[in-house]
Amino acid sequence: MTQTTTGQPRAAVLGGGVMGEALVSALLTAGWDMDDVAVTERSAIRANELSTRYGVRSADPNPKAVRSAGLVLISVKPQVVPEVLAEIAGALAPGALVVSVAAGVPLAVYERALPEGTPVVRVMPNTPALVGKGASAIAPGRHATDEHLALVERALAATGLVVRVQEKELDAVTAISGSGPAYAFYLIDAMAEAGVLLGLTRDLATRLAVATVEGSAALAAQTGDHPVVLRERVSSPGGTTVAGVAELDAHGVRAGVVAAARAAHDRSRELGEAARARD
Ligand SMILES: NC(=O)c1ccc[n+]([C@@H]2O[C@H](COP(=O)([O-])OP(=O)(O)OC[C@H]3O[C@@H](n4cnc5c(N)ncnc54)[C@H](OP(=O)(O)O)[C@@H]3O)[C@@H](O)[C@H]2O)c1
Repeated sequence: MTQTTTGQPRAAVLGGGVMGEALVSALLTAGWDMDDVAVTERSAIRANELSTRYGVRSADPNPKAVRSAGLVLISVKPQVVPEVLAEIAGALAPGALVVSVAAGVPLAVYERALPEGTPVVRVMPNTPALVGKGASAIAPGRHATDEHLALVERALAATGLVVRVQEKELDAVTAISGSGPAYAFYLIDAMAEAGVLLGLTRDLATRLAVATVEGSAALAAQTGDHPVVLRERVSSPGGTTVAGVAELDAHGVRAGVVAAARAAHDRSRELGEAARARD
């Protein structure tokens, strides 16, 4: 494995789709040199696009790309993971860390397919990572150390929050931060629709809803105050906000969110079991 001038291991991103591009961009922001990052793609057009946009190497097939990499990031669709592991198993540099963002593919699948002792880290990212506001959970495999987790944290720093969890917690993480952006978009859409119903133009209602959700999240993050405290602060006795929140309760919105998260958790577990059974 070649050491680089920045002190970071060479990185290979396998699969340059939506998440793969976010990973390439995050590595460059985190200080990786463009000459030390390779990305692989099935389509030559997409590969060219990525090398033009980021200056990274993109023409190598997977085995060649991983040969000199100390950090291998897998960002193909979950069903393509076994094929990619079979391609790279014989080409991995000794000591290379394999990191995967593929949803629902258990660590055991990687550890079985790769040479004994290969350190693997699973990541559950979410789409706000594309704008540096993501929330990612990272779970270590049997051979991943604290140093490996620290390397993943450095590599992902530009994507937003990164937290360490155990693999058994990833189904719950998937239900909250993985699927969570869809719940937030659902709320934004509902608020905007309500604004239209009350006479605002769609554009104005949408801009107000987006800014309100964004601002509320920023306030919660910056103050660290409990959401109930923040909610009480905008709810004067007998006022408009308590009247609105009472309707959310009456319509079971809280229970709906809990049921949504439970369904996503159970589905994530089912998909993980199916991936294990296929292996
Ligand atoms: N997007 C998200 O919000 C999100 C969130 C959490 C986790 N993830 C995970 O991230 C992974 C990637 O998702 P994505 O949304 O980025 O998918 P995507 O846009 O389809 O990207 C996957 C890319 O990999 C390419 N590819 C396919 N086979 C390949 C191979 N053998 N070698 C190299 N590249 C290959 C695909 O090319 P072709 O299109 O030509 O096949 C495609 O460009 C998935 O496993 C997903 O579970 C995504």
